[in-house]
Amino acid sequence: MLQWYKIDRTSSFDSNRIYEVNAGRTRVCIVNDKNGWKAFSRKCPHAGASFLTGWCEDNEVVCSYHRHRFDLTTGKGCPGQGDFIKIYPTKVEQDELYIAIETATSFFERLFK
Ligand code: FES
Repeated sequence: MLQWYKIDRTSSFDSNRIYEVNAGRTRVCIVNDKNGWKAFSRKCPHAGASFLTGWCEDNEVVCSYHRHRFDLTTGKGCPGQGDFIKIYPTKVEQDELYIAIETATSFFERLFK
């Protein structure tokens, strides 16, 4: 099940700059590029570097450490990388950004569903 979280103060964020925010208890990276808001994993799967020092171009996030690139729609790494990042759903309602996080269901929730 998806839980939507409102992200505060995004109106003060610069376009095309990567930020880290909390969506509930999950820390994610966000960027507002020419295609709108994107939310994705905060660490690069190659060697664990933060994406905060990376950048976005052509609907991809680029890790500043070894230049691995990831599609901001699918999360797939470029061919040959063999890795991917998690992409979180986003929506804007009344100028407020929301990010959806998958909530884990407990054993009992699944049992009595
Ligand atoms: S840590 Fe990101 S490309 Fe190596």
